Parts: sequence; C-alpha cells; structure tokens
Amino acid sequence: MKVLRNFFLLSTAALMLSSCGEKKTVKADYDVIPKPLAVNAVDGTPFLLSARTRIVYPAGNETLQKTAEFLSQYIAEATGYTLRVVSSDKEKAANNIVLSLNENVANAEGYKLQIAESGIELSGSKEAGIFYGIQTLRKSIPATAMGASVEMSPVTIEDAPRFSYRGMHLDVGRHFYSMDFIKEFIDMLALHNLNRFHWHLTEDQGWRLEIKKYPKLTEIGSKRSETVIGHNSGEYDGKPYGGFYTQEQVKEIVAYAQDRFITVIPEIDLPGHMLAAITSYPEFGCTGGPYEVGREWGVFDDVICAGNEDAMVFLEDVLSEVVELFPSEYIHIGGDECPKVRWEKCPKCQSRIKAEKLDLNKAHKPEENLQSYVISRMERFLNEKGRQIIGWDEILEGGLAPNATLMSWRGMAGGIEAAKQKHDVIMTPTNYVYFDYYQTTDVENEPIAIGGYLPVERVYAFEPVPQELTAEEAKYVIGAQANVWTEYIPTSEQVEYMMLPRIAALAEVQWTKPELKDFQDFQSRMPQLIAFYDRNGYNYAKHMYDVTAEYTPLVEEGVLEVKLSSLNKADVIRYTLDGTEPTEASAVYAEPLKLKDAAQLKAAIIRATGSSRVLSQEINLNKASLKPVEMKYEAAKGYTYNGAVALIDGMKGTRNYKTGRWIGFVGNDLELVINLGDETELSSAKTSALVEKGDWIFAPTAFEVAVSNDGVKFTNVASEKYNVLGEKDRNGIYDYALSFEPVKAKFVRVTVKNTPALPTWHGGKGKNAYMFLDEIELN
Ligand code: ACM
Ligand code: ZN
Repeated sequence: MKVLRNFFLLSTAALMLSSCGEKKTVKADYDVIPKPLAVNAVDGTPFLLSARTRIVYPAGNETLQKTAEFLSQYIAEATGYTLRVVSSDKEKAANNIVLSLNENVANAEGYKLQIAESGIELSGSKEAGIFYGIQTLRKSIPATAMGASVEMSPVTIEDAPRFSYRGMHLDVGRHFYSMDFIKEFIDMLALHNLNRFHWHLTEDQGWRLEIKKYPKLTEIGSKRSETVIGHNSGEYDGKPYGGFYTQEQVKEIVAYAQDRFITVIPEIDLPGHMLAAITSYPEFGCTGGPYEVGREWGVFDDVICAGNEDAMVFLEDVLSEVVELFPSEYIHIGGDECPKVRWEKCPKCQSRIKAEKLDLNKAHKPEENLQSYVISRMERFLNEKGRQIIGWDEILEGGLAPNATLMSWRGMAGGIEAAKQKHDVIMTPTNYVYFDYYQTTDVENEPIAIGGYLPVERVYAFEPVPQELTAEEAKYVIGAQANVWTEYIPTSEQVEYMMLPRIAALAEVQWTKPELKDFQDFQSRMPQLIAFYDRNGYNYAKHMYDVTAEYTPLVEEGVLEVKLSSLNKADVIRYTLDGTEPTEASAVYAEPLKLKDAAQLKAAIIRATGSSRVLSQEINLNKASLKPVEMKYEAAKGYTYNGAVALIDGMKGTRNYKTGRWIGFVGNDLELVINLGDETELSSAKTSALVEKGDWIFAPTAFEVAVSNDGVKFTNVASEKYNVLGEKDRNGIYDYALSFEPVKAKFVRVTVKNTPALPTWHGGKGKNAYMFLDEIELN
C-alpha cells in the first residue's frame, strides 16, 4: 500500500519534469528539526548538488562507507538520482561531499558541516556524528525534488546533541508489528536523530521473543485466545492473536538499527507483567496455575514466584540468551507494576524473605524488599556479563540495585530521588511523553486511546532536568524517552499516528539546547519535515494544522469569549454559529467572539490543498451559565483547572476527564452557590458525572438543590440519593436531573455528594473516591 503510494508520487513528479524538459533547481533550507546548535551563513556562491556530485568516505572505513551509502540513498529518495560513493584514495576532485573523521569535534555525536561553492565537508570525531550531519543535510534538501539540482547556500553548521540518551520505546506485547514496520520505526527514529530503541518484548498479553531453552514461551506465551474490546468492556472479539520475533529476526533488527547508530535496548519485564511467561511455565508462578495469557488490559496479580529458585534460574537463563542477541550495554528488566498479593501468601516467597532476612529492613515492606532482591540479583547476573540494568521507577521500592539506571515514568519524582542517590536517570514521565495518550481534547473524533491529553506543544514544553536537582545531580539525567504502549494501537499505521509529529517535538527536547527552543519557531520549521512524512507515506496526526479554540467564561460580562487560532498565522479561519459546515462563504474570524446565547460553533481553515478538520463545539447556555459561582470545598489537586467556572461555562466534558472540562473532587463533595443576580424562576436542575471505576472515579451519591433570596438562608427544593456503584455498573457519563415546583430565587445552592469511600469489591477499597462533574444546568 505504502510502496504503491510512493511509487505513484515519484512517477508523476518525474513525468511532470520530463514533459517540461528543463533542468530544475530547488533550494536547500537549513531550518531543520531538531534545531542545530549553530547555523552560520557564509559569504559566497552556493554549492550546486547534482547527479554528478560524489560522496567520498575515508579509505578503509567501512562504517563511513555504509553511512555514505545512506546519504546517497536519502538523496535518491528526494531527487531520483543516485550519487556515486567513492573511497578517498580514488577521488580528489571538486563537487564532492567529503566525509571525514576529525578529533577536534568535541562531542562523540557532534558534527561540523561546511558548505561552499567547491563542495561539502562533513566531519565528526566519530562516525555517529557524521551520521547526524547527514540527517541535517538530507532534511535541508526538499523531500521531493525529482530530477532537480539543489542549490545550497554557503554555511557552517556546528552541532551536537544535548543528551546522550535519546530514546523511543515500543510495546510489541499488547500488539505485534511486522519486521518491515520495526525497520520503518527505526528509520523514523533516525530521521529525528534518536539513538536508542527501547524494545518492550514481553507482556502479560504476549511474549514476543524466541528463547531457545524455553520454547513454550513462544509456542504458548505468544498467543492469546482473544482480545477485550475497548477499555476492558467485558466483551471480547473472539479472535486468536499472536506473533513473535525469531532470534534470527532479532539479529536482523539489531544490525539494521546499528547501521543507523541506534542501539536496541531489549526489555524483559520482570517480575510482574509475566502472565504470558507463567502461562507457558505455570511452575514459575506462586500458585502453580493454570494461567491464561492476558485477554484484557491492566495489571495482573499473578507474577513470577520470587521464592522459587527454578523461577529465578529461568529468568537468568532468559537473560543469558538476551545478552547473546543484543550487544547493548543496557538491558531493561522492567520492575514496574508488580503486585505483591501472591508473594504475601506464598510459602516459598515467605521462606525466601526469611532466608534472605528481607524482613529486617524495616524501611520497606518485606515483599518490597523481595522485589528489590529479584532486581538486584538480575543486576548482579548481568553485571557479571558486562551489562548494566535499566528499571522503571518502582525499582526504588526496597532500595535501588547498586548500579541501576532508573527510568522515571510516574512523573519525575523517582528520577529526582535516583539522581540524588547518584544513579543515572532517563526521564519518561507520563504527562509529557506517553505517546499512547490522546493528542486532542476532541476525543469523539479520534481513534480510541488509553486516555490522557498530550498535544504536541506539551511534548515540546518538556524539560527533562528538574529544577530540584543541583548542577552536579543534574548530570545524572542522561536523557529522555517517549513511550508507545499499544493496548489501543492495533496497527502500525496507528503507531505512526501516535508518534508523528510528537516525535519531532521530542527530538528537539532531546537534542536542542533549551535556550534555542521556541515553539513558534518549531512550528514554522515543521512543514519541511512534514514533507518527508508525506513523501514516505507516514500516517501522521494533523492536529497541529487544525483550528484551535480557547474558551474563557467572562462572568462579569456574562459572555463566553472564544479565541480561535491556527498554526500558520496566514491561514484564514472561517466559522458558523448555527451548526452548518464552514465554507469559503462563511464569516471570517477576525477577533475574539463574545457569545451570550446558545450556539453550535463550527470553525475550519478552508484550503484548496485540503481543508483542516472542522472544530465543533456545542454551547448550551441556561439560567446558571456565566453567573458568579463560589465553591465551598476544594477540588482535587491536579483536577481543579480553572475552578468552578468549568461548571457554568455552557460546554460539556467528553469521555476524557483530563481536558479541563471536568473538575474532580477527592474526599470532598461539591457545594456550589450560584448568584443569579435578578430573581429568576426555576423548576429543574441537571448535572453530569464521568465514571471511570478503574481510575477510582465514582458517581455521586446525592444531588440537592436549595434556593435563597439573600444568599444566607437557603430552602431545600429538591434532592435525590443514589446507591454507591457496584462492580457491574458501567463506566461513562452519568446524567442527573431534578424537577420541582417552580420557585423564584436570586441564589441557588447545588450540592453533589461524593462516594464516601471506595467499596469493598474495588481494588482501592476504603480509600477516598474521586468524583468528576461538569455543568450545572438550571432552567
Ligand atoms: C509503565 O508505564 N508501566 C512503565
Ligand atoms: Zn511465590
């Protein structure tokens, strides 16, 4: 499919050129992503890159020969002509791109690129730097310039990355992707100057790596009988699912990545997330099974038995084969989300705790110390083979293994703590770099995702070095990484959609010095990179090119202010308020809209080359809308957003509770007083709650309305109580309505009561429940 599309693109471009017959020239543009450290224009005549240009590598350097061939191939993809690659002892004439090693370039991945009329010189102290110089060079040439010569203005570019670890993760456990796609994924990493591929190979829902000593891991563990539909809906698709990579295939991928200066870091996630492994070998679980490869998402209680010596040897045997396959210094051993409930009850685990005196360290629970025992033991095993471990931030529980590098995902706190303990840290916090999160608040028009909200501008704003660290401690932050968990990403096209263009923002976080970062500037450089996505047929997300809206309830004026904007300031935004689709004839947006009445806003950029998606927002004003409000109890930290105005802004939240439309309460109830101003007749009240039981978000247990004319003395007019949700009750939006005899009032007090504590059937039983509410409607 993809190949066909490219072919079509290339052949039509070639056709156009031959029909007009003339030699075409296009211009290079050094405004690339990630932004280089220094781009200095030099006086002089441009270099003209043409089919006669040669690429010269240092005689005898096979790595640079390969790198030179990449450059030739990249230029061929853009221009259709293939430059000759020659050894330095064969050619010395002008019109060359000369690659050379130069120890004066300080950073091992830095490079110096000098473009002059006579030719191009690209040097680095190591081959890797030259590879990144080649990336800059190829991104400077227009992505599609069939048959054209490329005019390259004289320039000196000196560049080096900010971080040495620039990673991207892919979970192939939840869904499995072809060899071709894994290679394309690596190509995408190279295009963005990344140098680590964190390959998450084992999961509860599938073991994806052939292990010769334990063939059942793939015979049994790589297959699940079916897959849950949606967010653990309780319904299944009935379709067997599976797949794994043979050791030969793994070697092919490792070599493919290595040629592109990318290290593949395998992850064997242990001792949790091992359901597929213990389904294959039930004797390695605490209860002995039988188990079933996961058919749904989440964290499973059945984990590896840490008290069973055979199970520990099994893990070591697996790691022995892993070490043979992956030359990476780092081996990731997971450590995340390992419930301890089986270990608490397992005689073997308990006797290991006694034998190893794991109950004596009172700083942690014995089972946490047991987790630390497993991690430290695997670390010792790998250290003896000359390798280092990476673990998720849970490896702090029970104490860090002595040489471990920590991957901080539950925010930055784990990374901060590890850096203070002088351990290397890679920052991958959910709220900045979890690419399984939604990229827009308009989730109704998106493919289903895990949740969250992570637009490209938020990724761009990520600063991996927290202020809490001293300069000395900050050196332990060796880099940043984005993670692609694939519960809701069944196809490779969908992986592309979740990665692109957020990986471009990530690239600049990882590569570019913070003082050179600027989102507007980044946006202006994006189209040049997008042209590569288009040419390669990548399925990238286009939210950056849509209209965005900012809504501000202006309570004093009694209006909802709507500001519309677009990435390209030259774009003309057109809108309607009556629900009709915007066209070339619709009103042009010129200044913020001030809405007083109900409306169905639609806005879009109408372009001949393809219009943006239509932004659509229902504005549903009622007697409570845009009136002054006061909330008696605080909303939950992190879910307060702009406070109580969210409840009277006329706009309803969607199924995503992190968009700012919903406000969340934990422990507290909502008690809201609305000042209607004039005496107003009322006979009904409505509200809505969003329920996501797995995230501890429950429904209200009572809804009450009271009225007053002085704001002091209130009279109840209606109330209703609701049962605490049961295990079988659905997730989603719940609506509540109260009707009453018409009353006149100046003030209304609305009370919505939270679930007092999570019920006994729930994993968080006894803890405070959350309650997410939106819109109080009075009529
Ligand atoms: C993780 O996201 N469970 C590391
Ligand atoms: Zn056990």
